[in-house]
Amino acid sequence: MREDLHARIADLRERAARLPRVSLTELPTPLQACERLSRAIGHGLRLHLKRDDLTSLGFGGNKIRKLEFSLGAALAQGCDTVVHGLAGQSNYCRQTAAACAKLGLPCHLVLRRDHKTAGAPQGNLLLSHLFGARIEMVAPDEQPAAKQRLVERLKAQGRTPYLIGSQDEALGAVAYALCLAEILEQGLERGAEPGVVCVTGWNGTQAGLALGARVLGWRGRVLGFAPSPSADEARRREAAARAAREAARLLGGEESFSAGDIVNTSAYAGAAYGEATAEGLEALALLARTEGLVAGPVYTGKGLAGLIDYVRKGEIAPGSVVVFVHTGGTPEVFAYHQEVSQAAVAPEHAT
Ligand SMILES: Cc1ncc(COP(=O)(O)O)c(C=O)c1O
Repeated sequence: MREDLHARIADLRERAARLPRVSLTELPTPLQACERLSRAIGHGLRLHLKRDDLTSLGFGGNKIRKLEFSLGAALAQGCDTVVHGLAGQSNYCRQTAAACAKLGLPCHLVLRRDHKTAGAPQGNLLLSHLFGARIEMVAPDEQPAAKQRLVERLKAQGRTPYLIGSQDEALGAVAYALCLAEILEQGLERGAEPGVVCVTGWNGTQAGLALGARVLGWRGRVLGFAPSPSADEARRREAAARAAREAARLLGGEESFSAGDIVNTSAYAGAAYGEATAEGLEALALLARTEGLVAGPVYTGKGLAGLIDYVRKGEIAPGSVVVFVHTGGTPEVFAYHQEVSQAAVAPEHAT
């Protein structure tokens, strides 16, 4: 089985190496055992963190792996400017700004104004400014048109913009199929092959882990915890399945993924995207106090809360070796300092 796994990993890497790519981070990221956190959660859990919060650029995070392929494709297509735009506190946009700074590419961000963008910039927004992105803040309903107008303006100025969008999800999936290969290699090295890999998200990242499991012949479970509620979970899982299928095609193969192949729940997402939950903040504080590590209230705190609940209610079997992919988002704590301080300042320290 081991020989077989190593051969499959080599084949996956060889196929991925045919795609345009730029180097933005040192790899592999560490896989670290969390003994004190495991004991605090109980049930014989053997939890490891895949430290993708440590991808080595601009405060790290999962999008750095994806941007290696997206910006590789952008340069291969002759683009000379990057345009992106999501939430005002987007981790993805902050990592895009950092990657563009490293590559010397102008980066334009069209970001949504919301309750976390008022006043002096903080968290991810502050960092995006610091990395030199040209930032336009717009009302949420104006964002798609504003991005399109910006693309047209740049073209009129003789630029060739690359607009980051849904087509990049498949590239994120390629990156995370490779990340699963790293996880399995590192697990085997230390005699702790995981039975379950958990992640916060629903899109390319989870799609890639699911694709990696398929092409590497790994029989464990990939569990996804969504950061926002959804009226239509099936449609969202279908989007991830599409990213997995498209990534398989980019890797020169064919895989039949459907919504049923993506296991994802929004049970721990709370009321809305970008709103912290009590359980997420509690999980974030527990990680901080047992391991000295930081998770974010928007993504990873919610995923950790889901993992903890799954262990406690037996959805994850007692004694399991579990990997939580720490996808980063640590600058979120500064934009959410009021919410985080509720969990961080213990009552006995508050006076
Ligand atoms: C910290 C963090 N974790 C997880 C995700 C989810 O990744 P995906 O969009 O691939 O589902 C994101 C996306 O922005 C993120 O910023």
